[in-house]
Amino acid sequence: MITENAEQYYRIPDWGAGFFHGGKAGHLWLRPTKDPLIKLDLYDLVEKVQNQGHFTPLKFHFPQMLQYSISKLAKSFSRAAKEFNYSGTYTPIYPIKANPFAPVVEAVLAAGSPHGIGLEAGSISELAAIMSVAKKETPLVCNGYKDETYMRLILTAANQLDRVYLVIEKFSELLIFASIVETTKPAKLPFLGIRARLHTHGTGKWKESGGDFAKFGLTASEIVEACDFLEKHGLLNRLTMLHAHIGSQVTHSRKVKAMVEETGMIYAEMIRMEVPIKIVDLGGGLGVDYDGSRSSGEFSINYTVTEYANNLIFHMKSVCDQQEVPDPELFTESGRAITAYHSMLIVDVMEKHSLSHSMSVDKSIEEEDKVLVDLVETYQLMNARNLVEYFHDAVHMKEQLHTLFSIGVLNLKQKAIGEQIFWNIVQKAIELAPRMDQRPEELEMLDSLMASKYVTNFSTFRSVPDADSIGQIFPIAPIHRLGEVPVESAIIADITCDSDGKIDRFADISATRSTLKFHRLKNEPYYLGIFLTGAYQDAMANSHNLFGTPDTFFIEVTGDNTFEITHHVPKDTIADMLIRNGYHPQLFGEKWGRDADATEILNGSTYLHRIPTAGPEQGTRPVSISIHIDQLDCPRCRSDIRAFLSDLPMVSEFKITENHLHLTIASSELIPHLESLLKEAGFSVETESQEGN
Ligand SMILES: Cc1ncc(COP(=O)(O)O)c(C=O)c1O
Repeated sequence: MITENAEQYYRIPDWGAGFFHGGKAGHLWLRPTKDPLIKLDLYDLVEKVQNQGHFTPLKFHFPQMLQYSISKLAKSFSRAAKEFNYSGTYTPIYPIKANPFAPVVEAVLAAGSPHGIGLEAGSISELAAIMSVAKKETPLVCNGYKDETYMRLILTAANQLDRVYLVIEKFSELLIFASIVETTKPAKLPFLGIRARLHTHGTGKWKESGGDFAKFGLTASEIVEACDFLEKHGLLNRLTMLHAHIGSQVTHSRKVKAMVEETGMIYAEMIRMEVPIKIVDLGGGLGVDYDGSRSSGEFSINYTVTEYANNLIFHMKSVCDQQEVPDPELFTESGRAITAYHSMLIVDVMEKHSLSHSMSVDKSIEEEDKVLVDLVETYQLMNARNLVEYFHDAVHMKEQLHTLFSIGVLNLKQKAIGEQIFWNIVQKAIELAPRMDQRPEELEMLDSLMASKYVTNFSTFRSVPDADSIGQIFPIAPIHRLGEVPVESAIIADITCDSDGKIDRFADISATRSTLKFHRLKNEPYYLGIFLTGAYQDAMANSHNLFGTPDTFFIEVTGDNTFEITHHVPKDTIADMLIRNGYHPQLFGEKWGRDADATEILNGSTYLHRIPTAGPEQGTRPVSISIHIDQLDCPRCRSDIRAFLSDLPMVSEFKITENHLHLTIASSELIPHLESLLKEAGFSVETESQEGN
């Protein structure tokens, strides 16, 4: 049972970073600038947008959050520079791969212009995108594999923009560059950068991007060779940048320090070699605390933005002082940290699926059905002491059940009875497990075995692809009903046909958990927010099952629950998805227009048309019961029973009056089971009354 309030249970203060908090009416509120006077009720926002005819799933972008993140980054660096007496300037660079959506890039440019923000391209198409929005003074860093066409486009950009940096990632790129310069003799050349292949690598999922075996970067000997080559071709004066990147989402501050020190030493050596390096670009990697644990776990970081800036400035300063070289201008290419918070997806739960596990195990079982007899016996005799052993036996018997059925020894009815008894055993094991001092690893599968599936109207692959591809954690919480206790352990299943289309990893304090508790579904929509989806999710999205991009809104919060929709990108229609996959929607109309409303179908949403009521749950309606227990006159017994009930997931609330225990239990079918658990715990019980809720 959850004793803390739902805001605490969903750990909103931990991952919400001061942007999200529970508020009036149990709704989730957003403060996009962290100013307490500028706030928005997310539930109210969803209702208002739906009243305009746009239904969940809905994607929201809050450019004010981009502005906050950029300004926090820039301010952290300028404070750090002051504190450590660092004389070089700092320029934030936005790598558009983190979110290349034009309105996002434009919002970043607008928000970042007071801080001199630049843009980074990792491919020719990213460069073309950037060139269509960049201003003359926007610094441009061109990374990624380059062929002659990409190089020529960089030269075109350099001709008009003030500061274009062509970063050499492979020695062979120098040959292409020198040959183009020799043949075309451009009036204006880009600045050159060299990406160093550092020994230091990052941590977590993206650590392979750095280290000795990284895909990109020049080794120490290649850097020396590259400098000789440029000198020979009269181009060394253009080499003004040293670049390094050890991978995205660097989880540990120790790695950041190691990366700065190694890059700083290479910089100092290049200065000694009389290479005119002015800028050190320390790449991306500034991470995001997705799970709110402030740890070095895969989807967290054990440092803040301020600490990151201090770390970079302090260690670069130390190396420069020690090596007696000037403090370089610093660039960082933070994509994730700038964009992750600013976008979220709101989805609605359509229905709940759960395994039926009726508690009646007294079905007529023939003595010769040995496996069924064994299962019943296991159910009856299993207790907290023999739990692991009996649970193992039950899993084994379930396997046997399938084998005996497949060779024709058991019929379908017998198999069904066996499975039902097995699920009763699992249910009993779940109830017994919390009473064990240390829950054995073997029982970890229990919760997910019994967890309900909250079937939700969205596609994981379209909206949070990293949840499937790399098991990334995204914070998830309902945007309303935060004043109610969530009681239903569940995973989230999307509406794609793929069994991987689910979310079954959730943030927890020290590790991840496989289920999360949600509220019971009622005759009203139940909205969940999937948060911190602003980085990489749009770019990695795919159209599995031809689900398209949801209706997308850019929102500016103007005051206390007032807002303006600054931009709306309509959802992909069925026609859009057909066209993208090589079909001709008009042929659909010509062929089927007489039988179906072709226009309505083609212009319709790729998602389910929302059924406004989630519907009552079948067979598992909570009931209130009253149980007489003799021992309740003893204060010690009262406190024992309180502790005991607090651990029972099937009990959502309880109260003790004299010798009576009044409680709400998930389903009337669980009453005999609860009685047997109480009896096993040494209480003499007598159930007196039961009222349907
Ligand atoms: C060269 C380069 N710069 C910047 C980034 C962005 O990294 P992040 O989003 O972690 O800030 C990446 C992504 O991995 C990258 O490859």
